Amino acid sequence: MLRFETAGESHGECLVATLTGLPAGVPVSLDAVNRQLWRRQQGYGRGGRMRIETDTAEIVAGVRHSKTIGSPVAIIIRNRDWKNWTEALPVEDTDGAEDKRKRVTRPRPGHADLAGVLKYNFDDARYILERASARETAARVAVGAVAKLFLAEFGIEVLSHVIQTGSAKLERGASWDELVELSRKDEVVLGCVDAEAEARMKAVVDEAYRTGDTVGGVFEVVAHNVPPGLGSHIAWDTRLDGRLAQAIVSMQAVKGVEIGLAEEGSASFGSKVQDTIHYHRGERRFTRGANRAGGLEGGISNGQDVVVRGFLKPISTLRRPLESVDLTTREPALAAYERSDVAVVPAAGVIGEAMVALVLAQAMMEKFGGDSLPETKRNFGAYMEQVKNY
Ligand SMILES: Cc1cc2nc3c(=O)[nH]c(=O)nc-3n(C[C@H](O)[C@H](O)[C@H](O)COP(=O)(O)O)c2cc1C
Repeated sequence: MLRFETAGESHGECLVATLTGLPAGVPVSLDAVNRQLWRRQQGYGRGGRMRIETDTAEIVAGVRHSKTIGSPVAIIIRNRDWKNWTEALPVEDTDGAEDKRKRVTRPRPGHADLAGVLKYNFDDARYILERASARETAARVAVGAVAKLFLAEFGIEVLSHVIQTGSAKLERGASWDELVELSRKDEVVLGCVDAEAEARMKAVVDEAYRTGDTVGGVFEVVAHNVPPGLGSHIAWDTRLDGRLAQAIVSMQAVKGVEIGLAEEGSASFGSKVQDTIHYHRGERRFTRGANRAGGLEGGISNGQDVVVRGFLKPISTLRRPLESVDLTTREPALAAYERSDVAVVPAAGVIGEAMVALVLAQAMMEKFGGDSLPETKRNFGAYMEQVKNY
């Protein structure tokens, strides 16, 4: 079973990720991983931290001569900011270390601060926010990039775009080619395929900057060329839609997920929602009238693009802080402020891509197995032949 884990604190030495269960022989390029890390750091509305960190991956296990060797892939991403935190977050306690802590005692509404201190019985939210921080997602994106390289061997690609920032929405669909073009850009504003909509989105972020506020939004992840038959209807935890939903909602600040046009569909009649089925005799294959289901029926991929949207709440650290209570005095106090992002929807899209890629890679390995890439490809090829000849 393909699985990944991450470790690391926001201002600690580094982030660490492991990915276990890929077959041997998957080509891995550091440039490809670093490109995804770079994409995660972009977007109008990011805070000062992104100017400090230029993330680069160090692969320390599982890849030799540019290919996986079947053992767990381990990746390290060093935190450049660590040099400013060595005294505040030392591994070993020493005399005087207590005075150098950067305590957070005014929990931020919406962050993990208060729930975390109650749970772990800390008098300081620092240890909580260090791990709750979305800095952790750099590690997800690194292993997600490796999952993408595996999927690419089967012609599967995963990309994203921003369809809403605050109240500003993209009012049309986006083609796959537009997503490809967007992903190749070296300047990212708000990750929207439409210049006019992006300008409206930027105006919303500008307003948040002006007023000391933050904004959320919606990103859409599209997986292209996914074969039919990944995931299964047979049990609640084998359904691919459920697994994708868990993966997307597990992202920091994501509060909702939509598969296909779920929200629109829930307000429509069935005749307007289900994707009609047709057959192309010349090509000997089934076709569909639309893709409102987002490529999933019965928890099984149906061969259309898999489309998943993530709904991000606005960032909870505000320059104009909200009411809170000081953990020490129990007196009313304004919530803590620490250098923070104002809008992160394009970055969330890139993280969403990584999560979708990891879930799809897991589903591919479940279905096709194999210890070497040629073996997995052979199994995949035989199955695709069966589908073609159905
Ligand atoms: C890419 C990204 C960047 C984020 N940056 C910040 C940030 O700078 N400041 C902040 O307070 N929250 C930020 N968040 C959100 C918090 O990590 C998140 O709200 C917090 O961990 C609490 O979890 P929850 O919102 O899922 O309940 C970011 C989220 C993402 C996806």
